[in-house]
Amino acid sequence: MNIGILTGGGDCPGLNAVIRGVTLRGIRKYRDSVVGILDGWQGLVENRSRPLGLQDVERILPDGGTMLGTSRTNPIGDPAMMRRIGATIDRLGLDVVIAVGGDDTLRVCCELHAGGRRTVGVPKTIDNDVRGTDYTFGFQTAVSIGAEAADRLRTTADSHHRFMVLEVMGRDAGWIALEAGMASAADAILIPEFPFDMDELCSTLIALHRRKGHAVIVVAEGAREKSMKDAPTQHAKTDAFGHVMLGGIGHWLAERVSRETGIPARATQLGYIQRGGIPVSYDRVLASRLGIAAADAAHRSDFGSMVALRGEKIGLTPLEEAVREPRLVDLETYEAVLSLLG
Ligand code: F6P
Repeated sequence: MNIGILTGGGDCPGLNAVIRGVTLRGIRKYRDSVVGILDGWQGLVENRSRPLGLQDVERILPDGGTMLGTSRTNPIGDPAMMRRIGATIDRLGLDVVIAVGGDDTLRVCCELHAGGRRTVGVPKTIDNDVRGTDYTFGFQTAVSIGAEAADRLRTTADSHHRFMVLEVMGRDAGWIALEAGMASAADAILIPEFPFDMDELCSTLIALHRRKGHAVIVVAEGAREKSMKDAPTQHAKTDAFGHVMLGGIGHWLAERVSRETGIPARATQLGYIQRGGIPVSYDRVLASRLGIAAADAAHRSDFGSMVALRGEKIGLTPLEEAVREPRLVDLETYEAVLSLLG
């Protein structure tokens, strides 16, 4: 089989482990040839690729980012781009395209499959919001970095008797804020799924300040106050998929909280630090298993599906189901975590 593999969307710790898993499994078990498509869907639009052999993936397991490069190119709704993608697949003689990405990349994978192309998806995002899989790789790394940042901020909060706000990623889903906050015993966790009430938050923080002299608040970039339609952002730019570039609620919140409580508050935006660098072992293992499973799925002709973690096993989810809507934090889970706060 001639396998093409690409990585799309934001970079994520564990992408290289998937590339390695697909390549080693494909070559060693099936005698496949493997082609790495450069820079996500853009590489198929522009016919940019490189062959992948055993030596190419020998040392990449612990590396962050993706050796193939990535982009947020969106060919959906652009027939000319879709035609060029089809032409490159034919020119390279690819029997299958394995696309590693979040909901946007997987939606393109699904669309190509609907158009008669043979595709397999691998879920990836630090946000952990892809439906049809228990976890996405990269998430545990992001949570570890977030929790360590919150631990560090607590020492400053405690020493200066102030509030410290940590802003983490999470556009639609607050999984990173929830778990990084839990792991660092945060005093408040604000997530996109459940808009918060500013008055309530400020009274809680004043009470906490009286009792402990400080508080650490973990907020997801997509969170908003009840009266707002969208999360406050630094700028109004959008990406190729039409998503507003988030980031800025942390500073906005620190400013409001300090104004309304009269207690100093400072913010730290964790940003790309939580997405770059080496993956934790859990993510290396999960990503490697998904890479192996993707090569196996291609050989079983399980096209139009996504490899997925289900309990302890790797299974398959139809791509259509995976991209229907994001997997969000439910009320029961959030309420349980709230009982740990403060
Ligand atoms: O990888 C997902 C994500 O981290 C989102 O939480 C965030 O909004 C987005 O990527 C930002 O990525 P970029 O600025 O690279 O488009």
